[in-house]
Amino acid sequence: MKPENIVWQDGHVSREERGRLFGQSPTTIWMTGLSGAGKSTLAFALEARLLAMGHACFVLDGDNVRHGLNRDLGFSPEDRCENIRRVAEVARLMNEAGLIVITSFISPYREDRLQANQIIGPAAFLEVHVATSLKTCEQRDIKGLYKRARAGEVRDFTGINSPYEPPQSPALTVDTEGRHISETVEHILEVLQPRINCHASNS
Ligand code: ADX
Repeated sequence: MKPENIVWQDGHVSREERGRLFGQSPTTIWMTGLSGAGKSTLAFALEARLLAMGHACFVLDGDNVRHGLNRDLGFSPEDRCENIRRVAEVARLMNEAGLIVITSFISPYREDRLQANQIIGPAAFLEVHVATSLKTCEQRDIKGLYKRARAGEVRDFTGINSPYEPPQSPALTVDTEGRHISETVEHILEVLQPRINCHASNS
């Protein structure tokens, strides 16, 4: 829907200027993968690592955002689409404010992730597929939701009775199986660092 009778108001400070204040190019690291794949663990570990390096960043996590901003949404395809749209808009605002954002959402539909890419802007969007297999996620079953979904107690559960569409060309694919979390964080940092370091032209 296009807003009617509403006119965009330009501020005086650009995203680049705000980013320079923090010494970084604002970027969104978009993590996608099954429930239990390790997205949140990775997101919070990466956030701590980036903060220790002097970067201003913030994690938007599925379970947490669904406690507040998106508490009115469930897990139908329509609700997931709206979940991802709102999160992408928040990530964009945070990027505009100069921050690095790490999102941790299943975001199972390709079309929704494409929309997120368009909202955030492809230059600031880094898609990371946390590609832990369904078998491993189900074995871990930290929250007991896979067991309940198999028993028919949870509707529309991703991987069991709701689809997951893996990204076709993510910036990075990580597999958490048999790897220490810090190893995976360093792997992501290698790809991320050239993107978040302020370029000479920005200074
Ligand atoms: S998304 O598909 O809309 O991106 P999101 O990442 O916000 O999902 O939330 C997923 C979390 O909600 C899971 O980690 C799990 O803890 C919980 N959850 C509860 N019900 C479901 C369900 N039906 N499918 C997937 N996750 C669910």
